[in-house]
Amino acid sequence: LFSGPVTFLKSAPALKFLPDGDVPEIAFCGRSNVGKSSLLNALTGRKAIARTSVTPGRTQELNFFDVGEPLQFRLVDMPGYGFAKAPPSVVETWRRLVRDYLRGRVALKRTLLLVDARHGVKTVDAEMMKMLDEAAVGYRIVLTKADKIKASELEKVHAETIAEARKHPAAYPEVHVTSSEKGLGIAELRGAVFADSLT
Ligand code: GTP
Ligand code: MG
Repeated sequence: LFSGPVTFLKSAPALKFLPDGDVPEIAFCGRSNVGKSSLLNALTGRKAIARTSVTPGRTQELNFFDVGEPLQFRLVDMPGYGFAKAPPSVVETWRRLVRDYLRGRVALKRTLLLVDARHGVKTVDAEMMKMLDEAAVGYRIVLTKADKIKASELEKVHAETIAEARKHPAAYPEVHVTSSEKGLGIAELRGAVFADSLT
């Protein structure tokens, strides 16, 4: 799988700063604070390669991480959406950057759409799913922070999320359940991401 070095390549606040699309990319998106950076760290087995934060909306750019030596693929930490206090101009800039990246990026093999297991798919997540459907980028829905709720609740949200995924043409029918904190579901997802990078 991916056991080689993981290094931060660059941050792209706009499309013109994207790196060359010369290797496969796997992107992570989801509401701010959903656990994107934490999942990226857990998958790569690094403590803090991607900066995690207690302040929602910390990540405002596309952050690229190189995996493997020689380079195997890139992980892309996308800016979170849905934070309450963002001014409309910031939201619009975010929307355009993400949409244009998703639409035009040939190197992008798969996206992971993270959803908080406590909340399930909210309106903003459904909008993101629509954007991914329209860009025809295949995506895996990943429930995060599964350690924070009871097993019975988790089962219910999992089933609801699978039902939601089935309505979206570009979504995988399976839904991954994870906890970056406890390591739950991480090995399985790592295998899936690695396979995605080879497609
Ligand atoms: P932005 O970059 O601001 O959009 O946030 P993010 O989606 O990258 O979230 P981040 O990884 O920074 O995590 C946000 C908070 O949730 C941090 O306090 C993490 O420690 C916590 N967190 C992330 N994953 C888990 C998890 O699996 N379990 C628990 N209990 N907490 C988690
Ligand atoms: Mg982050």
